[in-house]
Amino acid sequence: MQTSDYIIITGVSKGIGLATVQLLNQQGYRVAGWGRTAPAYTHPDFHFFSCDVSDFAQVEAAWQQTQAKMGTQLYGLLNNAGFGHFGKVEELPLEKWHAMFNTNVNGLMYCTRVVVPTLKARQAGHIINISSIAGLNGIVQGSGYSATKFAVRGISHSLYAELREDGIKVSCVYPGSVATNFFDEVEGVTINPNMLQPQDVATLLVQLLQSSPNFLTVDVEIRPLQPKGKK
Ligand SMILES: NC(=O)c1ccc[n+]([C@@H]2O[C@H](COP(=O)([O-])OP(=O)(O)OC[C@H]3O[C@@H](n4cnc5c(N)ncnc54)[C@H](OP(=O)(O)O)[C@@H]3O)[C@@H](O)[C@H]2O)c1
Repeated sequence: MQTSDYIIITGVSKGIGLATVQLLNQQGYRVAGWGRTAPAYTHPDFHFFSCDVSDFAQVEAAWQQTQAKMGTQLYGLLNNAGFGHFGKVEELPLEKWHAMFNTNVNGLMYCTRVVVPTLKARQAGHIINISSIAGLNGIVQGSGYSATKFAVRGISHSLYAELREDGIKVSCVYPGSVATNFFDEVEGVTINPNMLQPQDVATLLVQLLQSSPNFLTVDVEIRPLQPKGKK
């Protein structure tokens, strides 16, 4: 990845997405942020494009606007936008189930789909998808969220095999609990200092983007070392 390149990050208003925007800008990279909500953050090398990733027409429009503003030197796509609704399978409202799939799965595919032709033309690039440890193990009252994150794993593994011949890397990251606003919607969980910090997750993501051209990281599972603190 060169500093003349830019990276698209989805879901940049807060949390992991915003921390990664800030770290990339600090290191001299240009970033396009695609999201429903603009962050309270400005930088000369950060450009926000309004986009609900669950709406394919909005994704196509964001991609057109991004190219018009930033050109075609795209290197990376961080599919980060996502959320979780939790509840018993017989009680979780169907619209919440569908909303998770529309963003976490369909939105990730829409963003990937629009940029892949440009990355193929460059014969280089890196797509990083944010799954979750809920994409590796089921969780009680998390059937819908977990299903979306298992889907992210399946998409990622299929695409790394599909795109490697075009010089495009695809990586999937599986975080444990990260101290972000994700938990605002999760009953009974409040963020605490024993969780992963979004800045540390951002450090990992930037390191992945900076890896050597022939170095592919397929999966990364990250967890707090001591999630309940030192005993
Ligand atoms: N926090 C954790 O413990 C944890 C663990 C594993 C995986 N993850 C995953 O990490 C990713 C980032 O989450 P986070 O922890 O940083 O949560 P967060 O602080 O709640 O941030 C989520 C971001 O996604 C955006 N977003 C949601 N739906 C969107 C849509 N349809 N279109 C565009 N943007 C959308 C939100 O925008 P708005 O401000 O408009 O809502 C927000 O900017 C998610 O995929 C999440 O599933 C989180």
